Amino acid sequence: MKDKLEKEKEAAQPRALPPKQTVTLTINGTERQLELEPWVSLLDMLREQLHLTGTKVGCNHGQCGACTILLDGKRINSCLTLAVMHDGAEITTIEGLAKDGELHPVQQGFIVHDAFQCGYCTPGQICSVVGLVSEGKARTLDDIRDLMSGNICRCGAYNNIVKVVQEELERSKAQ
Ligand code: FES
Ligand code: FES
Repeated sequence: MKDKLEKEKEAAQPRALPPKQTVTLTINGTERQLELEPWVSLLDMLREQLHLTGTKVGCNHGQCGACTILLDGKRINSCLTLAVMHDGAEITTIEGLAKDGELHPVQQGFIVHDAFQCGYCTPGQICSVVGLVSEGKARTLDDIRDLMSGNICRCGAYNNIVKVVQEELERSKAQ
């Protein structure tokens, strides 16, 4: 049986880092194969490896929504999830919403309704609105406020953001 000293020596030995893993993701319509350390978050992968810096870092622990992206069409805080958990997934970031040179209607709505000031929260807000509308749960003003409450705006552009959501909900009903 190992004595205490031996066990302590063993515990003090540096351990080998886990190897990188291969992950295939479709990002804004393009398939990408990446070699990633298992501890890399989706947010860090997007910003640091793919240089898609439209997705912003705020709190880095799930409280501000600045890092919101769409994962298989559903909104998610990209700082809170590891990239290697999503092999095969489809990711849409703010850079992937415009099509053929035309802004997504939600992006257009933010301009029309002047729904931002500094703009730091805006990519996350826009992805969140797109996700919220496709969830189909928002019926009332209170629903909108509640379902957008994970996206903080330090500039306080909330009233105009709500107008964008209302307009987008109407547009999606008309389709
Ligand atoms: S940076 Fe992800 S929630 Fe704040
Ligand atoms: S527009 Fe400045 S934080 Fe929202």
